[in-house]
Amino acid sequence: MITIKTPEEIEKMRATSRLAAETLRMIESHVKPGTTTDTLNDICHQFIVDNGAYPSPLNYRGFPKSICTSVNQQVCHGIPGDRVLRGGDIINVDITTTLDGFHGDTSKTLFVGKPTPKGSKIVRVAKECLDLGIRVLRPGGHIGDIGDVIERHAKKNRCSVVREYCGHGIGRQFHEEPSVLHYGIPGSGAEIRPGMTFTIEPMINLGKAPIKHMPDKWTVVTKDHSLSAQFEHTILITETGYEVLTDLDGEYV
Ligand code: MF3
Ligand code: CO
Ligand code: CO
Repeated sequence: MITIKTPEEIEKMRATSRLAAETLRMIESHVKPGTTTDTLNDICHQFIVDNGAYPSPLNYRGFPKSICTSVNQQVCHGIPGDRVLRGGDIINVDITTTLDGFHGDTSKTLFVGKPTPKGSKIVRVAKECLDLGIRVLRPGGHIGDIGDVIERHAKKNRCSVVREYCGHGIGRQFHEEPSVLHYGIPGSGAEIRPGMTFTIEPMINLGKAPIKHMPDKWTVVTKDHSLSAQFEHTILITETGYEVLTDLDGEYV
């Protein structure tokens, strides 16, 4: 069942999504060579708790940390640990907060120090894929419209879309219906309606699409060890279009 949020629920979605976005903005300046992913985790955890919220990943299906940190060929769900960031790395930091019973979810792939040409390319294409997926949104459209524009843009750039993980409805539950695939056929899938809240979060690989899991059972990596990047926003569908709830900069207004 796809939940349509009430005006009161929408206010709570705005608040939790804003906090997730503020956490992501806060951690950016800490991403630099020599820092460990555990340090990023601990700073985010403290910030979220200090703001009266809970880091949704912590203990979610047994996940052991408060944020996900996925470096280089890691696609998603990287577990923060003692890994030391190095110049030229790319790192996706994925933040999900629970505030007043509602989840807000956003992520971004950041450069550590000076970007490499390959890092720059995959980060650019992944961000463009998210932006295209957002800009196609309209009430009366279909969820399949999103995957269609994303997949075509990735292919045009000779990159590939990870197929095993998708965006998702979000609200009182971390992951709700609908599944928002990042590939697909225009006009297919559920109709997009005002009051829906969901994420778009394409994982784009510089090489081929297949992925595998690391022995820790969480970290997803590209099978061909190519770089992977991801960006994620939580979005509300409105009567006239959309509102990007995790956009602090007015980038989509
Ligand atoms: N934040 C991720 C998403 O975008 C989910 C992380 S689940 C976790 O859906 F357990 F790995 F934290
Ligand atoms: Co998500
Ligand atoms: Co996320």
